[in-house]
Amino acid sequence: MRKHADDEDALVLAIETSCDETAAAVVTAGGAMRSNVVWSQIAVHERFGGVVPEIASRMHVEHITIVMDEAMRAAGVTQEDIDAVAVTQGPGLVGALFVGIMAAKSFAYARDVPLIGVHHIAGHIYAQALCGVLAFPLLAVVVSGGHTELIVMREPLMFQTIGRSRDDAVGEAYDKVARALRLPYPGGPHIEKRAAEADTEIVLPRAWLDGDDFSFSGVKSAVMAHIHRARMRGDVVDAPALARGFQQSVIDVLCTKAIRAACAHGIPHIVLCGGVAANGALREALQRAGDAVGVTVAVPPMALCTDNAAMIGACGAAMWRAGRIADMHMEAKSLWSIDAFGGAG
Ligand code: KG4
Ligand code: ZN
Repeated sequence: MRKHADDEDALVLAIETSCDETAAAVVTAGGAMRSNVVWSQIAVHERFGGVVPEIASRMHVEHITIVMDEAMRAAGVTQEDIDAVAVTQGPGLVGALFVGIMAAKSFAYARDVPLIGVHHIAGHIYAQALCGVLAFPLLAVVVSGGHTELIVMREPLMFQTIGRSRDDAVGEAYDKVARALRLPYPGGPHIEKRAAEADTEIVLPRAWLDGDDFSFSGVKSAVMAHIHRARMRGDVVDAPALARGFQQSVIDVLCTKAIRAACAHGIPHIVLCGGVAANGALREALQRAGDAVGVTVAVPPMALCTDNAAMIGACGAAMWRAGRIADMHMEAKSLWSIDAFGGAG
């Protein structure tokens, strides 16, 4: 007997293939995670220093069926038990998105279940719904490889972007700085590790900008210039001190501006999410800054911060409950504003 969205135990099969993770998960309509399988392509892209879109698409094609089967097996269910299928519709690499969407459409058609198209960044925010109820209004601080945004949510599935990076996303800056320091891709975890080992800090500039926007290309260029000068002089580059200086600059600006925005808009809750939210120093600093002004700060556990399908399932479940079902004409949207996805753009 097929279950409906208002049944807490109804099962959503979720698929995420927007970048370099082939992921599938099973979550309940009530927001409980039953399985979360991520096949990371990082080892394949590592030697190129970044994601190669053509290779990403091919890897998704090779792994998607296996990963979906594994998600159902790990949840202890079969295809017959699935009541809806949710998939990342965008934004992301168009060829990569296409693979997940085709898999989701095929499943929905074959099993005759509803198909739901989810916004990747909305998924990052809804990762927190797997850890408890989302309390509104909230300010989402989204920090990933492609996005740095401050997004106000006053009610479920309604998004208002109030600030964004005008140049590099935070994760992108981490990856570029890591590359300049000859550290592997993706650079975030490596920079974090070096920064924690440092006993000194090379103090780097902070770009405050007016309003709620960000800029991270200045601090990235300052790191590059420092490395270049040291190498020209034949000096050893103090990678830990530079990593610490870079990370401190980023954290200082992110936390100060996020808290300022929450206070200015009278928002009592912050959700920190996206791949860079896996950074322990950032989590702690924002937590402390929130405590100081009485703003709660929630951060999903590490495994739900970096790209995964459970977060897509959590947002998909909310969309299913709201009756937001797609049809077989659903197409990949490689560029897609979250405000428009929520219906406000
Ligand atoms: O959200 P995500 O998995 O993929 C995108 O949608 O972009 O984010 C990936 C980004 C990468 O830039 C990676 O370097 C960064 O998250 N990242 C980190 C950490 N773990 C991952 N950045 C800083 N510290 C970390 N511990
Ligand atoms: Zn992401």
